[in-house]
Amino acid sequence: MNLSRRLGYLHNEDGQAGGPDIAPQDGKKVSAASTLSQIQEAKAAEAASTPLTTEDGAANGQSSGALSDLKERVSQLLYERLGNRVSDSSINEEELHQFVKDELKIVVDEEQVPLTPSERQRLISEIIDDVLGHGPIQRFLDDPEITEVMVNRHDSIYVERYGTIYKTDARFSDDDALRKVIERIVSRVGRRIDESSPLVDARLADGSRVNAIIPPLAVNGPSLTIRKFAREALTVNKLIEFGSLSPEMAELLRACVLARMNIIVSGGTGTGKTTLLNVLSSFIPAADRIVTIEDAVELQLQQEHVVRLESRPANIEGRGEVTIRDLVRNSLRMRPDRIVVGEVRGGESLDMLQAMNTGHDGSISTVHANSPRDAVARLETLVLMAGMDLPLRAIREQVASAVNLIVHITRLRDGTRRVTHITEVQGMEGDIVTLQDAFVFDYSAGVDANGRFLGKPIPTGVRPRFTDRFAELGIPISPAVFGAHMAGGRR
Ligand SMILES: Nc1ncnc2c1ncn2[C@@H]1O[C@H](COP(=O)(O)OP(=O)(O)OP(=O)(O)O)[C@@H](O)[C@H]1O
Ligand SMILES: [Mg+2]
Repeated sequence: MNLSRRLGYLHNEDGQAGGPDIAPQDGKKVSAASTLSQIQEAKAAEAASTPLTTEDGAANGQSSGALSDLKERVSQLLYERLGNRVSDSSINEEELHQFVKDELKIVVDEEQVPLTPSERQRLISEIIDDVLGHGPIQRFLDDPEITEVMVNRHDSIYVERYGTIYKTDARFSDDDALRKVIERIVSRVGRRIDESSPLVDARLADGSRVNAIIPPLAVNGPSLTIRKFAREALTVNKLIEFGSLSPEMAELLRACVLARMNIIVSGGTGTGKTTLLNVLSSFIPAADRIVTIEDAVELQLQQEHVVRLESRPANIEGRGEVTIRDLVRNSLRMRPDRIVVGEVRGGESLDMLQAMNTGHDGSISTVHANSPRDAVARLETLVLMAGMDLPLRAIREQVASAVNLIVHITRLRDGTRRVTHITEVQGMEGDIVTLQDAFVFDYSAGVDANGRFLGKPIPTGVRPRFTDRFAELGIPISPAVFGAHMAGGRR
């Protein structure tokens, strides 16, 4: 069930703790995104209700303190009455909601504090947010424009909206409150977090990706990062609309996928690698059998002939781990036409390169790197992690013959994500893997008044060697793709 909808039916729109909402992070963002976000901010501020403590004229000054005291007391009593039921994954959501609602009513009544009906309603829904929902971050999880929620500490929460990161003034009351929310999130997906296993990387029922880490590893207190699951995956048309890809690049990439080229998407953290991988995978013909391998499933392939595999961490006793590498090896016995690996970050890269070199061409993956050249270096390092003690030259040869294309994506200063390189891996020259850019981002076009980059990726004018394959396979590609009109193109 959708994370944000889990509490949906209990949620009173007004009941969410609000505040003067989101403030841009220290002058870093200057862009169309920030203008857009200003409008969004205004909207959000309007929509966000006033917090419990400032509602209703009567509830100000002294009485606002009294109300938050009451909230704290009631929450405490409620936690005591609930015991560990809140994190018991054998109780279904509906029963749990009903139970909490009933118990909460009893606790509020027992307090015998005179409340107006609207105060009472707010008190109940805020506490339900805290106990069953996700406290102060619930509203960010409910907001479809927010794609990432980053809790650095109980009193330091950032969100990403339209590619720009903002500091919010939402806060958990203390480390304990944050810890409770973390425990609830991870226990509902059958995991646990405590001093003996202080970090968890998990996928929620709605597909959102969660990472939680607590002291002693997190020095300043518990920390939580949620990459929200996009209800609708970004399509190639969306990426073109956002300026991440040009139509020509999209045409080239589609042809490359059809021609069964091995492609590596490279980029930094959160630059859109997985999204681009998803878009590339969407070009795979429906008749091909696809095996996808991920740490936490994120890909949303539309094809039917797909088997999705997900790795598994070790259990509490340190057993039962199934790594990406195990899955890559297993996939070779599943008669795949294409292997799509969410991200290579260890020894599996050797198995993947070997697969690419031994008939499983047309495979795609991502790697964390700062440039196409760095992606090659990174693959070399990852192959070393397989522990096979291969000479560097042999590794480079593997990389050079396995990978046909590197597509590099960057998150620019203006918050936009752009494909900045489409680079062909041509082979080896001496000890060096030779790379040739087919497209590069044109930084020279400068920025507009909002700081948004005006440039776009332009063909270098060098026609990649692999285009011969397109002709052999009868894959049409228009000459314009490689800059038949070379205005502004670089040679
Ligand atoms: N081209 C794009 N334009 C705008 N937003 C994008 C684009 N691509 C991805 N996003 C958004 O950026 C966020 C990160 O995307 P994604 O998960 O694909 O990145 P990633 O590089 O795989 O991240 P990680 O390094 O954490 O695996 C998501 O919220 C996604 O919706
Ligand atoms: Mg990713």
